[in-house]
Amino acid sequence: MKLFDHRSVSGIINQGGTVLKTARCPEFQTQEGQERALETIKKNSIEGLIIIGGNGSFTAAHEFYKKYKVSIVGIPASIDNDINGIDVTIGSDTAINTALSAIDNIRDTATSMERIFIVEVMGRKSGFIALSVALAGGCEEVIIPERKFDLPAVCHEIVEGNLRGKISWIIVVAEGSGLKAEEIARQITEMTTLETRAIVLGHIQRGGRPSAFSRDLALRLGQAAVDCLLAGKKDMAVGFFCGKIVEVDFAVAIQEKKLEVDSLYKLIKILT
Ligand code: F6P
Repeated sequence: MKLFDHRSVSGIINQGGTVLKTARCPEFQTQEGQERALETIKKNSIEGLIIIGGNGSFTAAHEFYKKYKVSIVGIPASIDNDINGIDVTIGSDTAINTALSAIDNIRDTATSMERIFIVEVMGRKSGFIALSVALAGGCEEVIIPERKFDLPAVCHEIVEGNLRGKISWIIVVAEGSGLKAEEIARQITEMTTLETRAIVLGHIQRGGRPSAFSRDLALRLGQAAVDCLLAGKKDMAVGFFCGKIVEVDFAVAIQEKKLEVDSLYKLIKILT
């Protein structure tokens, strides 16, 4: 065990990742794992927990609270922005900007060499990053788990565009969409005969220098979570919603977060 004091967080504000080394813990999904956690909490006279994570972490925290009544407050931190009832999680703004910067670079080759690029971004269950960067990056198409996708129709659009003189396309695909970038590129080349390349951005989106917004949010939510625990609140998360720090019950926070898929997709197509 390691005790943290205010010096322990010195010099980390500009870093990604976690100095706590927290990660997914399959053991916690078992009864034995949860009992072990409870034992550690009791042995160390821990009065409350602050959980930093996304939907999976909050779901586990909610179950743990229901079973053992340990006071828990959540801080939403996930590049997937998958917490219901709040606008934005810590890290999601950084991840979008990292992916966007890669897409801006890719566009240079796409335009110069007149190619089609398929760029795969993270999001096993969520199209959040894909939709955000497709819009902000001026991309022509986006493929996400939340929306049905018709590849032959897109190929038809590409060929038509090509005949009108449109020379490059960037198609963003979320990793959980069913088809991998390589496979989409292969099929597009086959259907259009145009040169198509696939790029998987992967874990570069999960690290690096946090944006000013992500840092500001982390500091404010950290303070709000401590205040909530001290005030005796539990089984809930703090979050940022409509410009304010709010409190959301875990039971609400873990519900499926609905993206504005249709309106954002429509806007992407208008701009194409
Ligand atoms: O849950 C957040 C997330 O970043 C997903 O978008 C991504 O699919 C996954 O984690 C990657 O996890 P891992 O590093 O374990 O492959």
